[in-house]
Amino acid sequence: MNNHRIALIPGDGIGAEVVHAACRVLDAVSSRHGFTLDYQEFDWSCQRYARHGAMMPEDGIDRLREHDAVLLGAVGSPDVPDHVSLWGLLIPIRRAFRQYVNLRPIRLFEGVQSPLRTAVPGEVDFVVVRENVEGEYSEIGGRLNRGFPDEMAVQEAVFTRAGVTRVLTFAFRLAERRGGRLTSATKSNGIVHTLPFWDQLVAERAAHHPDVVWEQEHIDALAAKFVLRPGHYDVVVGSNLFGDILSDLAAAVAGSIGIAPSANLNPEREHPSMFEPVHGSAPDIAGRGIANPLGAVWSAALMLDHLGEEQAAADIEKAMAAVLAGTDVRTPDLGGTASTAEFTDALLALL
Ligand code: NAI
Ligand code: MG
Repeated sequence: MNNHRIALIPGDGIGAEVVHAACRVLDAVSSRHGFTLDYQEFDWSCQRYARHGAMMPEDGIDRLREHDAVLLGAVGSPDVPDHVSLWGLLIPIRRAFRQYVNLRPIRLFEGVQSPLRTAVPGEVDFVVVRENVEGEYSEIGGRLNRGFPDEMAVQEAVFTRAGVTRVLTFAFRLAERRGGRLTSATKSNGIVHTLPFWDQLVAERAAHHPDVVWEQEHIDALAAKFVLRPGHYDVVVGSNLFGDILSDLAAAVAGSIGIAPSANLNPEREHPSMFEPVHGSAPDIAGRGIANPLGAVWSAALMLDHLGEEQAAADIEKAMAAVLAGTDVRTPDLGGTASTAEFTDALLALL
């Protein structure tokens, strides 16, 4: 029997609430599909930061290395600056394990109302591929003249041929397997060095994938078009910052950020990949037991798919679609009154 070793990092706020709901769903499918999941839970979080002055222990990365995948809830707390929590845990994991693809599927499920009149279930079904380890989220730069009137900050965006090419290759291959269309997010009119380079590499990669119909769109216009015709997109690829912003926008178009999943992938599988909902720790609703678990559940399905348990992953996605289309059980973010546990129960009943 296949066994998968999973590192669980519930994190802060609703992170723990949704990760534990996802584990209930994982356990339901694993027994049916004949594999086991061996969880090890880590309490790495802002609470740990408050106690020990670090989000994770010094050997944290090495302790994760022996797992097949990481399932994370969310990190962030109002009493710890967000750049401390992000750079103390998530970003080091993404970089140490070369998780250079951040895959964010978007789907408007039947039974979920989009805030947009133009968005129709079945038509809105695309994937944002975000470059996940370089670009605008770089460590290069600094602060000067702190506290003086001429105080300044410089941050350099880093776009490497190797780093951009590998994420584009992943995106084009994904487009070949999906609907055969790719949109590249750019801003090469205003950003005159890095993004013309990005565009050049997109054109180079496109030549290797003649079956993919591709286009490029400036990020500002693309943001507007996500709202005006969300059904148009199939695979959208963007730099670290563009992909981050676009995927939150797309999640809102699909009805709630509480549904959106993400996979931080190391496509070569030399290191563990990490799966997490797109949303954060939601301090405004944390502790009330009303968080939508679907983002974490869908992320768990992406994890199973990555681990080779495609059938179990497909079962989870089917049950997600069925609970939304066939029942009116909803958490408050989708206009209902169900708790996280009640919603998870409804999902489990369909599994
Ligand atoms: P957020 O995603 O935590 O919350 C935004 C809004 O969406 C809130 O009104 C929240 O209640 C709602 N929401 C989010 N997830 C939900 C769910 N599953 N069910 C129902 N409603 C949900 O983003 P925000 O407020 O910008 O950040 C809060 C904290 O989370 C910050 O410390 C931030 O740094 C951190 N954060 C962490 C991320 C991560 O761990 N990957 C990602 C984004 C933010
Ligand atoms: Mg984000």
